[in-house]
Amino acid sequence: MDKLVIEGGRKLKGEVEISGAKNSALPILAASLLTEEESIIENVPNLRDIWTMVKLLHSLGAKIHYEDGALSVKPGKALKPVAPYKLVSTMRASVCVLGPLLAREGHAEVSLPGGCVIGPRPIDLHLKGLRSLGAQIDIQHGYVIAKAKRKLRGTEMFLGGSFGSSVLATGNVMMAAALAVGKTVIENAACEPEVVDLAQFLKKMGVRIHGEGSPRIEIDGVKKLVGARHRIIPDRIETGTYMVAGAMTGGDVVIRKAVPEHQNALMDRLAQSGVKVERIGNVIRVRRTGRLRPVDVTTLPYPGFPTDLQAQMMALMSVTPGISVITEKIYPDRFIHVAELNRMGSEIFLEGASAIVHGVKHLSGAPVTASDLRASAALLLAGLVAEGTTEVHRVYHLDRGYEKIEEKFSQLGARMRREKE
Ligand code: EPZ
Repeated sequence: MDKLVIEGGRKLKGEVEISGAKNSALPILAASLLTEEESIIENVPNLRDIWTMVKLLHSLGAKIHYEDGALSVKPGKALKPVAPYKLVSTMRASVCVLGPLLAREGHAEVSLPGGCVIGPRPIDLHLKGLRSLGAQIDIQHGYVIAKAKRKLRGTEMFLGGSFGSSVLATGNVMMAAALAVGKTVIENAACEPEVVDLAQFLKKMGVRIHGEGSPRIEIDGVKKLVGARHRIIPDRIETGTYMVAGAMTGGDVVIRKAVPEHQNALMDRLAQSGVKVERIGNVIRVRRTGRLRPVDVTTLPYPGFPTDLQAQMMALMSVTPGISVITEKIYPDRFIHVAELNRMGSEIFLEGASAIVHGVKHLSGAPVTASDLRASAALLLAGLVAEGTTEVHRVYHLDRGYEKIEEKFSQLGARMRREKE
């Protein structure tokens, strides 16, 4: 197992290029199962979660080839519609093969993902949506067994739960509806850019879709889909992480190949905290010369502030003079980074689903561990401004979601290296 060793205290300066979005690539790779033909997906980041999805597609019977950031997927005539526990338990996003398998094979067996470190994460909305399309679903021995006796049928459904819309449930239903008979209307659909990207790919495969990016999506199912070529959008969470890093270190960071309009919520909060953010085309520049000002943040579905940047924003608040409050409305338990940040000298107090952050003058480097991807990113950011050395253990969490992480940060002037434990 590797660790990242960070010597704190350097202002980040320079340019960094953003990779393709993991959370777009995963459902899009699953969607490629909807046809027998070959699809080519470009700008796929080289990440652990992507390779888990590749393994899963391979075990379902698809032929896969990777070259230069492009994955070609050729599912062929018959799929083996079983997603085993071994793969689903290492990556929850495996659940997005449920919709495509059911639509193509009329049968899918997908292990239930169970809880994870950021909270319970049920999949009831996925199942509700697929049942509305006519699937018969049972839970047996820890597996979702989904069957469609006849072809799935388009219908109108409301896809919302206690925490609002769901990104992957919207994706699963869109994929299943793509081969259903007639029109499906999803009300309270997730509006995240990754859902829009999936819709773009499905359109290229031959599906008629309207309304993606809004809470009402209409899908006109077709009999057969074709293979397509698609380029994954830039990763907005990776982008946001480098933006926060520039702001925290009082640096000057130019972020290339980004989509600035995906960052509106973060830009607004950074501007509020005294950070200068400029956008020109697909470039974002983040600079700070003055003091940080406290700011309050509430995570919400897109276009609200993303839960996947909550931990990183908390690292910034830790070194912001005054009191900042962060409220988590998507995953009320997503606070495992708090204890580790406090070990580095932060003063963060939890009050239900809110964290009250008293900014401190200095953080001090320490060995830290987090068992979640974004929590690990927050610890890395804290290490960049801490006095002395920080060791972020279990780097494999970061490798699930950040491509070439130490290379990109080093390019910006951070002193960061990977070492074997
Ligand atoms: C996606 O997960 C992302 N993962 C997550 O990113 C991200 O945190 C999350 O969306 C929210 O933005 C991928 O895209 C692979 P949800 P997803 O269903 O789709 C509740 C990261 O760090 N809910 O939109 O699984 C759920 O508990 C990861 O990259 C139900 O109640 O999240 C949560 O409160 C972590 N029932 C809310 O909805 C359901 O059936 C939103 O979750 C499904 C979800």
